[in-house]
Amino acid sequence: MEYVPATVIENRELAPGHGLLTLSLPEPQPEIKPGQFLHLRCDPGDKHSLMRPFSILDANALDNTLSVYYKGLGRLSNHLFTVPAGTELDCLYPLGTGFPWQPDWRRVALVGGGVGLAPLLFLARHLEPYGERMQVTGFFGGASAPDLVPALLNDYDFPQQLATMDGSTGFAGTVVELFNGCEEYFDVVYTCGPNAMMRALQQVLAPAVPAYASLEERMACGVGACYGCVAAIKTGEETQNLRVCLEGPVFELRSVVFGT
Ligand SMILES: Cc1cc2nc3c(=O)[nH]c(=O)nc-3n(C[C@H](O)[C@H](O)[C@H](O)COP(=O)(O)OP(=O)(O)OC[C@H]3O[C@@H](n4cnc5c(N)ncnc54)[C@H](O)[C@@H]3O)c2cc1C
Ligand code: FES
Repeated sequence: MEYVPATVIENRELAPGHGLLTLSLPEPQPEIKPGQFLHLRCDPGDKHSLMRPFSILDANALDNTLSVYYKGLGRLSNHLFTVPAGTELDCLYPLGTGFPWQPDWRRVALVGGGVGLAPLLFLARHLEPYGERMQVTGFFGGASAPDLVPALLNDYDFPQQLATMDGSTGFAGTVVELFNGCEEYFDVVYTCGPNAMMRALQQVLAPAVPAYASLEERMACGVGACYGCVAAIKTGEETQNLRVCLEGPVFELRSVVFGT
């Protein structure tokens, strides 16, 4: 797999510390599934640092663009805020598996928080148009109202229930507390966010409901070569260390052995 130079066509701050990057790709894009990600060189002047993984927030095959929702967490993700339109950033895409889907799943719950909103929002886009036949509900949580980035979420039409730890918007408490007890209404649950959130969801989810988690382990190569991103995954009686970048990032939620 080769690096592709993608051109930044828009880089917009959605809120302090949160950005939306739109990239134009030099070649027609392959089919991109919600849950897949790209590896991005955030600083074109720094060829020595590792690329960083970001979920694909949206992909448009007609104009050959991809977008990424990013949060400034450290040096390279913060550098992204300074990258002007016209800059070429090397990337590798699409990486990893996407969320599985069955045509008879019609009532879909998305449970997420933090940068985990990105793959869930891409999935929601994929399932449009919503209506009687396709009911998508988001359960999104954060520490406080600004973490739920209205400039991002307001771009989507499906019903969203919000939870904040400080009660500044929506339910006061965790998103899993908000969701707990609702799962029997849904055909499938998709989740992405901090491991503590997904572990709590795993503990409360009724056994009959299919559930899939997209993991966000730290990564190095992004393509399966270094084993730097493994997660413990139950496969039948065994537990195996699987590469989140290659065998994941999406796994059956109940198969993930979250660390303590
Ligand atoms: C599959 C996948 C999808 C991702 N999707 C997105 C996305 O859509 N938007 C987005 O903003 N970020 C996403 N991330 C996280 C993103 O890769 C990190 O924020 C980025 O690598 C941080 O790089 P940095 O140099 O800025 O920070 P660093 O200096 O490397 O780290 C800064 C801080 O961020 C924490 N951190 C770094 N990587 C991760 C991680 N993978 N998970 C949790 N905490 C981490 C570190 O522990 C540290 O506290 C994703 C990660 C993965 C593995
Ligand atoms: S990051 Fe190298 S194997 Fe996953």
